[in-house]
Amino acid sequence: MDILIERAGGVLTIALNRPDKKNAITAAMYQEMADAFFEAEKDAAVRAVLIRGNGGSFSAGNDLEDFLKAPASSPDAPVFQFLRRISSAQKPVVAAVAGAAVGVGTTMLLHCDLVYAASTAKFSLPFVQLGLCPEAASSLLLPRVSGYQRAAEKLLLGEAFDVNEALSMGFVNRVLDADKVDAFAFEQARKLAALPASSLRVTKALMKHADVRDIAARMEEEAGYFSPMLNAPEAREAFQAFFEKRKPDFSRFD
Ligand code: COA
Repeated sequence: MDILIERAGGVLTIALNRPDKKNAITAAMYQEMADAFFEAEKDAAVRAVLIRGNGGSFSAGNDLEDFLKAPASSPDAPVFQFLRRISSAQKPVVAAVAGAAVGVGTTMLLHCDLVYAASTAKFSLPFVQLGLCPEAASSLLLPRVSGYQRAAEKLLLGEAFDVNEALSMGFVNRVLDADKVDAFAFEQARKLAALPASSLRVTKALMKHADVRDIAARMEEEAGYFSPMLNAPEAREAFQAFFEKRKPDFSRFD
């Protein structure tokens, strides 16, 4: 099972459980996560959602084999269902991040309410390095959260950065020891679960309200570029290079 769902203390935990592939996310995993968010919204016993990764990584992002063999194109594709659900979740969403948080492993954090990260966490947004462009409305949210130049450095160069930088960029709440981050994040989610659900719902809605339409529109705009770019030769070269364990060569493309 590549996704494990657990319910305890009013918290629904979604654990990415594909440690041999650093929790890279396949279409089937996106679908399970999208369904878990749907169930969480319907079930009054669920008062908060926690996302974490098993095996010392949060997520190596989208599965590159899926990108190569079955790139998502329709708006109903599991990845888009998941992104719509997490970005419009009415209940609080907490993340516990350790190790790699690549691509969507970082951009999904911009939709979480509380993000706790281990000192081992390493973030990256290598969309340009892969011949792609940002997704999950990160082209809108990262400049808003971190300021334009810092967002531009991360989104244009795509280089990995550590947890202290993520903290100073404003999308991580607190840094913890790697062996404490999951328990701490669960405890925070449990605290939320004990608070009045209606007050949480209204407070979150008030904070997000002005951005909701912008986020949905930007995700659609990004997808309009991202989907064709997945099939373009630059991206094909980048994916092949990853699996052949070599540096990509973009010199033949204009
Ligand atoms: N899709 C598919 N497989 C992936 C993957 C991904 N996104 N990320 C890692 N894997 C696989 C590797 O191919 C490897 O498989 P193998 O053992 O069968 O060879 C295994 O997971 C372990 O990865 P490895 O690269 O050996 O681990 P590492 O600790 O040296 O590096 C990462 C970890 C996450 C930095 C590195 O794997 C990486 O850069 N992955 C690609 C991330 C990416 O570009 N994601 C898409 C973003 S849009």
